[in-house]
Amino acid sequence: MSGKRIALLPGDGVGPEVTAQAVKACEAAAKRFGFELDWTEYELGADYWRITGQVIPAEIEAELARADAILFGAVGDPSVPPGVLERGLVIHLRTAFDQYVNLRPVRLLPGVPTPIRGLQPDDCDLVILRENTEGAYVGTGGFVHRGSENEIATQESINTRKGVERLVRHGFRMAMERRKHVTLVHKSNILTFAGDLWQRTFDSVAADYPDVTTDYVHVDAMCLYLVTEPQRFDVVVTDNLFGDIITDLGAAVQGGLGLAASGNLNPDHTAPSMFEPVHGSAPDIAGRGWANPAGSILSAALMLEHLGYRDAAVALEDGVRAVMPTLGALRGPEMGMSTEDIGDAVAAHISEAPTHS
Ligand code: NAI
Ligand code: MG
Repeated sequence: MSGKRIALLPGDGVGPEVTAQAVKACEAAAKRFGFELDWTEYELGADYWRITGQVIPAEIEAELARADAILFGAVGDPSVPPGVLERGLVIHLRTAFDQYVNLRPVRLLPGVPTPIRGLQPDDCDLVILRENTEGAYVGTGGFVHRGSENEIATQESINTRKGVERLVRHGFRMAMERRKHVTLVHKSNILTFAGDLWQRTFDSVAADYPDVTTDYVHVDAMCLYLVTEPQRFDVVVTDNLFGDIITDLGAAVQGGLGLAASGNLNPDHTAPSMFEPVHGSAPDIAGRGWANPAGSILSAALMLEHLGYRDAAVALEDGVRAVMPTLGALRGPEMGMSTEDIGDAVAAHISEAPTHS
């Protein structure tokens, strides 16, 4: 029996520390549920760039394209100019592999502390779908008179009807499997051109889903409601920049960046999807065993679900649910367990998971 081919990109900083735990959890699940995963590791990131001068050579990109999924840690290093790795690898792969949905669940787990007083797990269970290939992240714009006192910089936001529609449609499809409510987040009162395209596209897709209720919230108000009334959201669809910002807030609400998971999905399966924690390489805590691997393990759960291993995905989630409340804190030495210890504890839990759900 040959297994699913997974390309593993641990990256920099805490990336290798947390992905090692996610691999451990996946292997425990593969053993428990009787399937095989065939891992190939690629040492891309800051060191690779320093040594070769390249972020990702074409041969490696072609190999990644043949994988069934990609499990990614994080890239970024203080010694590398900002953007070289983040744009050159993360943004590049999302675009090259047409991973147009960035799926980021925001879920408060029982027994996990949240900074929002009194918030209950039942009141915080939403998914944010961030458009992942367009918007302000395309990189169009430029300088005039750079370095002079009359300098001008422009940074454009690209929004196509096709790009918006495919993201919004995925949101409605997901809502049908959930609580059947979709919220559009934008800033249509000020960004009237892009906002108008998003709203008209949203309304026309909504017409195909009469069972789904809809709502519109400005992005600034979203920052308020995500904290005061997260229960009003089920599926949220938004553009690339707004999605980047509100999902960090969502991560804080659910207990911190260490817990936040994401999937860069190519729902049409024309290229592999890529799964990564929401956090970056965290150079401030790297190398000490202080990173929480939950975000990486929960991202691996999204990957197993995407590959069709539903029971295994649930086992990974349950493992995280079981171990998180036993920690002294959600990050740093106060956790009381190292990154690796947490991975071992989650894997031990998965090995005992029920095999019929
Ligand atoms: P970051 O997400 O790396 O860290 C922000 C804060 O969260 C830090 O205080 C960090 O200690 C904490 N944190 C991060 N991961 C954690 C974990 N697993 N457990 C507990 N605490 C955790 O963001 P920052 O500091 O802005 O960026 C550091 C580098 O990462 C930069 O080079 C940045 O460009 C890059 N980055 C890369 C991303 C990617 O590869 N997809 C995403 C975000 C940032
Ligand atoms: Mg971000």
